[in-house]
Amino acid sequence: MRIAVIGAGNIGSNCARQALKAGHEVTLAFSRDPAALEETARELGASSATPADAVASADLVIFSVPWSVIPQALAAAGDLGGRIVVDTTNQFGSGPMPMAGQTAASFNAARMPGARYVKSFNTLTSGFQAQAAERSGDERVVQWICGDDREAKEVVAALLDAMGYVPVDLGPTATCAVMEAPRRPGAVYGEEYRAADAEAVVDAVRNGAPIPPTPSYR
Ligand SMILES: NC(=O)c1ccc[n+]([C@@H]2O[C@H](COP(=O)([O-])OP(=O)(O)OC[C@H]3O[C@@H](n4cnc5c(N)ncnc54)[C@H](OP(=O)(O)O)[C@@H]3O)[C@@H](O)[C@H]2O)c1
Repeated sequence: MRIAVIGAGNIGSNCARQALKAGHEVTLAFSRDPAALEETARELGASSATPADAVASADLVIFSVPWSVIPQALAAAGDLGGRIVVDTTNQFGSGPMPMAGQTAASFNAARMPGARYVKSFNTLTSGFQAQAAERSGDERVVQWICGDDREAKEVVAALLDAMGYVPVDLGPTATCAVMEAPRRPGAVYGEEYRAADAEAVVDAVRNGAPIPPTPSYR
């Protein structure tokens, strides 16, 4: 696939590195310092472009910018209609916020009209994600996904698998609050999960029930 990474910071550059390793074409975009972005792209084996150009030629867009910058990044990216957009963001800092009871995923999906919105990569620190992508077998780590477009989620799940993670679909954007900040009891946000413990979480979320206690792998 041709993948555009909007915001090649901690998370975005991890994603770029792992997608390149999995054999995808990657273009980095959206930086306050285009020369530095070009250099990062060269180091990774990616290319760089303006956000609008990167999006225009992409099959899939990884959207990974600080929350406060989302409006600016969306304006620069232009029309996301028809694109699979993987949102890694968390609602920290300033900027427009979801209404009470609304998930950040629902809120952001509505800010990306026509996009085939999927949320992922947001529950674990970038350092942990980089390390976890190297694992194999039962030690592989879950990357949760949510979204309202089943086929888009399947594409993202295949990408996550190729990157070294276990993709687990938590369902629609409206009911994915357990994968969103802040870290707290009763949520998967901020916690390591492996495949064996994921199904019980999915069942609980589907049934609107509390999720089981956080697993420990020590
Ligand atoms: N870091 C984590 O562990 C982690 C984990 C899960 C989710 N997340 C979420 O993922 C998103 C990205 O996080 P990150 O840690 O990867 O962020 P980051 O390292 O700060 O990267 C932000 C990216 O946005 C670009 N950018 C362009 N214009 C910007 C502006 N005006 N202000 C700030 N950045 C600008 C930066 O490029 P230049 O610096 O070249 O301008 C950089 O590539 C956030 O929403 C965060 O909450 C982060």
